[in-house]
Amino acid sequence: MKKATKTAALMLVLAMMTTALTACGNSADTSGSTAVDTTVSTAQTQESTAADAGQAEAGTQEAAPEAGGTLTFGTNAEFPPFEFVTSNGVIDQYDGIDMAIAKQIAEKNGMTAAIENMEFDSLLVALQNGQIDAAIAGMTVTEERKEEADFSIPYYTATQVMIVREDSDITSAADLADKKICVIQGYTGEICVKDMGYPYEAFKKGTDAIMELVNGKCDVVVLDSATSQKYVNDNEGLKIVEDPSAFESEEYAIAVKKGNTELLDKINTAIDAMLTDGTVAELGAQYTEELSAE
Ligand code: ARG
Repeated sequence: MKKATKTAALMLVLAMMTTALTACGNSADTSGSTAVDTTVSTAQTQESTAADAGQAEAGTQEAAPEAGGTLTFGTNAEFPPFEFVTSNGVIDQYDGIDMAIAKQIAEKNGMTAAIENMEFDSLLVALQNGQIDAAIAGMTVTEERKEEADFSIPYYTATQVMIVREDSDITSAADLADKKICVIQGYTGEICVKDMGYPYEAFKKGTDAIMELVNGKCDVVVLDSATSQKYVNDNEGLKIVEDPSAFESEEYAIAVKKGNTELLDKINTAIDAMLTDGTVAELGAQYTEELSAE
């Protein structure tokens, strides 16, 4: 298989694991799970029960928007191919895999999807204060985030990779020791590098970190696989270095306010259908091809 094809195929791998994931480390070997597993619904039911308890605890009754209403998703539209701003997107000026998924989730429930674009770090707070109904932002499920929000079944599997200049001598995460590392603030890439104990510089936007790399001001950017591929396609002289032993796979899911089981159930039913009928895989292929053809 050609390298590009292989990377694209890897990015599209959909693994439905029921194990809890942390962002880094090498404990979970998920590289082999390529099948969409519909048995997740069982785990989901259990999680709903747990979430019900959370709701009672919080003492708030969360209602999902009704059919005919607007389902407001929060995102941070600086994460292609999942969300980015364009002239005519699938929801207003917003386009990408997540935006198409959001639109279909709303439509499957007789609602209209709206997008609130904000900083990635603000998404879980916006859920808590009711500014948005759900967050869809290539958001990795982590134990820490699960304390703040409830997550849907996962719809995409990714991993952290290292973007370096073509002439770089970095071949594994161990080589990061004496390098200038750039990450994006609040992303799992930052958590990984922090966990590894390396000093780093955090940027607000992926494009800013990439500029530092291109200009030789940093040696490596640690970022999610599909988004990294997009930046490598767009910028001359960059390449991706993978190290699955250092960066375990991550799962993207949609977050809702803790205890909002009504909405979570609607979202899960829609995602489950889109995973089963191949919609999510198709969107993945469509947006990665669209982006690399640019
Ligand atoms: N997957 C990473 C995380 O959860 C990065 C997500 C960034 N998403 C975005 N829309 N900016 O931290």
